[in-house]
Amino acid sequence: MSSERKDEHVRLAEELRDEQRGSGFDDVRFLHHTFNGVTRDAVDISTTVAGRRWPVPFYINAMTGGSRMTGALNADLAQAAAAAGVSIASGSVSPALRDPGLESTFRVIRENAPEAFVFANVSPEMTVEQAKRAVGILSADALQIHVNPAQELVMPEGDRDFRGWLDRIERIVDEVGVPVVVKEVGFGLSRHSVEQLLERGVRTVDVSGRGGTNFIAIENRRRQRSEYDYLSGWGQTAVECLLDSLHAAPALPVEAIASGGVRNPLDVVRALALGARAVGVSGHFLHVLVADGVEALTAELESWKEQVQTLLTLLGAADLEAIARTDLLITGPTAEFARLRGIDLAELAHRH
Ligand code: FNR
Repeated sequence: MSSERKDEHVRLAEELRDEQRGSGFDDVRFLHHTFNGVTRDAVDISTTVAGRRWPVPFYINAMTGGSRMTGALNADLAQAAAAAGVSIASGSVSPALRDPGLESTFRVIRENAPEAFVFANVSPEMTVEQAKRAVGILSADALQIHVNPAQELVMPEGDRDFRGWLDRIERIVDEVGVPVVVKEVGFGLSRHSVEQLLERGVRTVDVSGRGGTNFIAIENRRRQRSEYDYLSGWGQTAVECLLDSLHAAPALPVEAIASGGVRNPLDVVRALALGARAVGVSGHFLHVLVADGVEALTAELESWKEQVQTLLTLLGAADLEAIARTDLLITGPTAEFARLRGIDLAELAHRH
């Protein structure tokens, strides 16, 4: 992937923000109960991801690196992550695997966030050796493998042959030496896809659903093409993915992370209530950084932590286990999805 393309992704993600809609989070309502019976100071928002404790259940998800500009963004993202105790993922490390001169644009994440839980990120086209190098560059705690067939197919120069992906993922999981998270990039992982990953030894997925950053729109705008514009609503939302994998019977034995279209702390809490272990945010945090700078992003992360804790208090949930037992009302198009997929929404609405 060229450095120029990395810069354009950032510019266009910003430019297309106003067109984002349909993330499904507004279809998720909590039932308000008055006597919540907890004290805010004792509410614990920590979580466990890939066997490690995270003090904060949301994180900065994969975006940048591979060019001078995106290296500078990684430096700022990591500085804010470190200050707020938030985990962070790099963008795809592929450019640095081709050109070692670009390694510093990724390594800066570890330099600025020495204590953070850091993910490296690669494509499923990588060999085990390349995946290990990506982890090494960042001294990463875990590896994300992004799976993005919709984005590849819309790009004239993108991949067309997807036959080897599951085999390569399995090999990386077996040999890379750190936990692996397989993630979509904004089109959602279906229950069937998650089942296929479980068969290959993957234990943690980031469903990364639609309704936030839209890579079909970004790739089209990049070339000023309108082909495939009709695919702008393609895929499943994070909410639909969580329902499908965790709430259709039987629940899949997967650790699910949610991302895609997360706009505010209430969306974070909605995803946690649906069983997500953690919640990834890309476009919104990038926007705060680009618009207002690194101090503003740090303040935003701190404010979200406070708000998540307050929302758990409002919902009478002392921790993440308790929030996953609250009453949820699923409405609108998401309810229609659930009906077609045989998910018992009445049960979700009566969990207390
Ligand atoms: C991304 N995303 C991404 N994902 C990935 O796995 N590897 C990558 O290199 C990138 N690059 C990238 C660049 C930019 C500028 C953005 C905004 C996003 C996708 C990202 O991790 C996430 O899956 C989607 O953006 C959906 O989340 P949001 O943006 O709606 O919060």
